Amino acid sequence: MLSQWLKDSNYTVVLTGAGMSTESGLPDFRSSNNGLWTKEDPSKIASTEALNQNVEMFFEFYRYRVLGLNEAHPHKGHEILAKWEKAGLIKSIITQNIDGFHSEAGSENVIELHGTMKKVHCQTCGKEYGNEKYAKEEFICECGGTLRPSVVLFGEMLPEDALMKAAEESEKADLFIVLGSSLTVSPANQFPLIAKQNGAKFVIINMEPTELDMFADLVVNERKIGEVLKELDK
Ligand code: APR
Repeated sequence: MLSQWLKDSNYTVVLTGAGMSTESGLPDFRSSNNGLWTKEDPSKIASTEALNQNVEMFFEFYRYRVLGLNEAHPHKGHEILAKWEKAGLIKSIITQNIDGFHSEAGSENVIELHGTMKKVHCQTCGKEYGNEKYAKEEFICECGGTLRPSVVLFGEMLPEDALMKAAEESEKADLFIVLGSSLTVSPANQFPLIAKQNGAKFVIINMEPTELDMFADLVVNERKIGEVLKELDK
């Protein structure tokens, strides 16, 4: 059914979450077995409060994530999505992920709602560096300011241009596919509903149930995204 919907659709939009990158070896946040937020409280460690009140712990947490990210790479599922974009099967990817894997795999129309952990920037002067600064435990800018990953921290607003573009894409979608997200975090979890309200078919491919399953036209649980995409790609 989904492969037919993909073929029949004129404007397919994909929303990805951390479940898209677990098969690359990166932990997600809320998977019951080893999600990051089952061990740490995000508001205490991935927030502006942590950056301002507990910067040593903040540095350590994000250095650990940068080291993990720099060892990992996009998997076959990312490559299939990039191929589908080139074939016109999908028009854009809205991602909550900060790993840059969609672009690295060749996808072009990628909207990064939560920024990127491939880069860090100075809190004071805004100068950007590659994330290897954190790998090398260099946390201070040439100007003396503090360097932080260019991700959206808890307590921060999302980039306005990404929000606008994601809303535009969601309104244009006639098929909206979620891959690997618990859909617990807003405003990312609003985009499937915008698409649905505009008449799109709404599909969720996610190992575990999500908060929006009851609104979906098709839910695929207990299946790995990489396998489902390979099957659809036949
Ligand atoms: N195949 C299918 N589903 C998977 C796979 C996989 N290989 N691996 C994990 N999943 C599912 C999990 O069951 C989980 O429900 O992906 C979902 C990931 O959900 P979260 O861990 O909540 O990640 P996400 O939805 O992206 O979180 C949103 O929260 O912490 C913030 O900014 C962070 O972008 C993140 C946001």
